[in-house]
Amino acid sequence: MSLISHLDEAVAVIRSKSPLTPVVGVVLGSGLGAWAERLEEHVVLPYSEIPFMPVSTVVGHAGKLWIGLANGVPVACLQGRVHLYEGHAPERAVFGARLLARLGCRAALLTNAAGGTRPTFQPGDLMLLRDHLNLTGQNPLVGPNEAALGPRFPDMTHAYDRRIAALAREAAADAGVPIHEGIYAGLLGPSYETPAEIAMLRTLGADAVGMSTVHEVIALRHMGVRCGAMSCITNLAAGLSPTPLDHAEVEATARDSRDRFTALLSAWVKKVGAAITGG
Ligand code: HPA
Repeated sequence: MSLISHLDEAVAVIRSKSPLTPVVGVVLGSGLGAWAERLEEHVVLPYSEIPFMPVSTVVGHAGKLWIGLANGVPVACLQGRVHLYEGHAPERAVFGARLLARLGCRAALLTNAAGGTRPTFQPGDLMLLRDHLNLTGQNPLVGPNEAALGPRFPDMTHAYDRRIAALAREAAADAGVPIHEGIYAGLLGPSYETPAEIAMLRTLGADAVGMSTVHEVIALRHMGVRCGAMSCITNLAAGLSPTPLDHAEVEATARDSRDRFTALLSAWVKKVGAAITGG
């Protein structure tokens, strides 16, 4: 069976549970899952009930799809994601992102927890992604191309949509939440980086480092979805802080930033929803 038929089987199950056609997709990263719980008229499906959906094993990644309204905008929200370091093949790990597109989302806002490689960052800072470095050595589009989903060689010049980024700046100003902007380096993980690797990433132009997002953005761009992404800088990357890194701390910082992050995300979704639907 083809990827398209897998997606359509999953879409049929979701459509049988919710009458909404989402226009904006949201992916919630480590410790940021609470945002979904505010959706109105929501329907929640555990990933285990969605055909072909890979299930996350990471603490802090709930693994549920939410469909509902955020400020009146129909959204589909992935609460928790699967990562390559769990052993999922890249094309499998992006199944949820592709599902957002196949459900009808024309824009996707992705969030993640990341280490700051810019020394002036503080834990809890938020960073809008201007671009990424895919340093995983892998790509979710490897293998036969499904031409009905997208082109063999998708352009990545505007991987992060300029209009969606502009709306993030407006949303941040409206919500009174300061944001930074920079380049996100996506690595395979699961070990955190060495100080030498962080020094290398800084010379490559990275401002933040994490273990997600880049493959999802590649798959979403393949399907023509416009993307925006925001990192919560949960820690200073290895070598920039005297203390060793710890996943519990990453989650705790993400949780501490939750109120600012959710306020910003709500304002962003509203603006993107209006822009996408021409409102
Ligand atoms: N490195 C990689 N991934 C991360 C980090 C980090 O320092 N913090 C949160 N996710």
